[in-house]
Amino acid sequence: MHIDDRFDELIDTLTGFQQTWLVCLGVELGLFEQLRAAGHDGLTAEELAKRSGCDPGPVSAWVSAADAHDLAELRDGRLVLDEDTAMILLDEARPEFLGGQFVHSVIASLDWSGMVDFFRSGVPVRARPDRYRQSIERLTVQDVAVFFQEALAELPQLVGDLAAGGRVVDIHCGGGRWLIAMARRFPALELVGLEFEPDSVARARGNVAAAGLADRIDIRHGDVTVLESTSGFNLAYFQYALHQLDDAPAALRTAWTALRPGGRLLVLDWALPSTLQELRTRQGELILGVQLDELYQGTSLVTRDGMRAWFAKADLPDPLVIELPSGATLVVAERA
Ligand SMILES: C[S@@+](CC[C@H](N)C(=O)[O-])C[C@H]1O[C@@H](n2cnc3c(N)ncnc32)[C@H](O)[C@@H]1O
Repeated sequence: MHIDDRFDELIDTLTGFQQTWLVCLGVELGLFEQLRAAGHDGLTAEELAKRSGCDPGPVSAWVSAADAHDLAELRDGRLVLDEDTAMILLDEARPEFLGGQFVHSVIASLDWSGMVDFFRSGVPVRARPDRYRQSIERLTVQDVAVFFQEALAELPQLVGDLAAGGRVVDIHCGGGRWLIAMARRFPALELVGLEFEPDSVARARGNVAAAGLADRIDIRHGDVTVLESTSGFNLAYFQYALHQLDDAPAALRTAWTALRPGGRLLVLDWALPSTLQELRTRQGELILGVQLDELYQGTSLVTRDGMRAWFAKADLPDPLVIELPSGATLVVAERA
């Protein structure tokens, strides 16, 4: 490759970093939301600032940058957002939702000030601030969409069983978004959420109460060991959580024991690429970016074989491992 072409590619990466910040600001401040509401007419910078409750100075710079970065288009001084971009950045119920990934990338990297030290010492930072967990909640709304649109499509029998009712537990439920979506989709279910971080417990309880579902969703403070004193679940679910635990096989074993006969254990997670070919895809780039953040905090994503190995180590039956269209991995085991 000619050096000029390589230079251009790397400049793209540099401006991509700026673009990530522009998107994050646009999502967090509601700028995209206001532009979408304005439709084809778009908004001037002044109108956008007023409607989003921001200062016109920086918003004016953001408007120019948004056009320069092809996030939206300036037409006669009015910024117009196209519907495809709006859907990808704003629609949380779509598997293509990326707004949360932009916010999470920015928030996570704010904590990387110790990354150089981590590379030298190999000693991770264990504690992340509350804002990090809030950004995880934004990130994993995409997982909720993937679960409903891709995972359930693979499991018609489960859909039928859940429609009839039963008990479901979300282990490490974060802000409780999956539980709320499940309660709405399956009105006969009773649901339990376990969460270990106090700030996430408070957010989950707040979200559940705001959804008017406090009578059906019980958020308990604790980790998977809470399940040692309870049983009879039809479904135990780990969403983007198992790989972060110190002892994933032990957690699987405990969850398995809490299932009733015929009950299912589901894991939804994102696998590390297993081959060089997989590594060199867009998905590979994204996953390896996330992996750096995982390692920094002392956790790690694993390959699909790694997920199977957790089940073997827990002495559970070999699970069904399904690659979903989004690139997420679904692991399923059913108790006889
Ligand atoms: C990335 S969050 C996923 C939350 C939620 N399932 C979601 O999808 O939004 C990972 C979860 O693992 C929990 N966790 C991390 N380390 C843990 C540990 N050592 N013991 C128990 N829970 C832990 C956190 O509290 C958090 O709920």
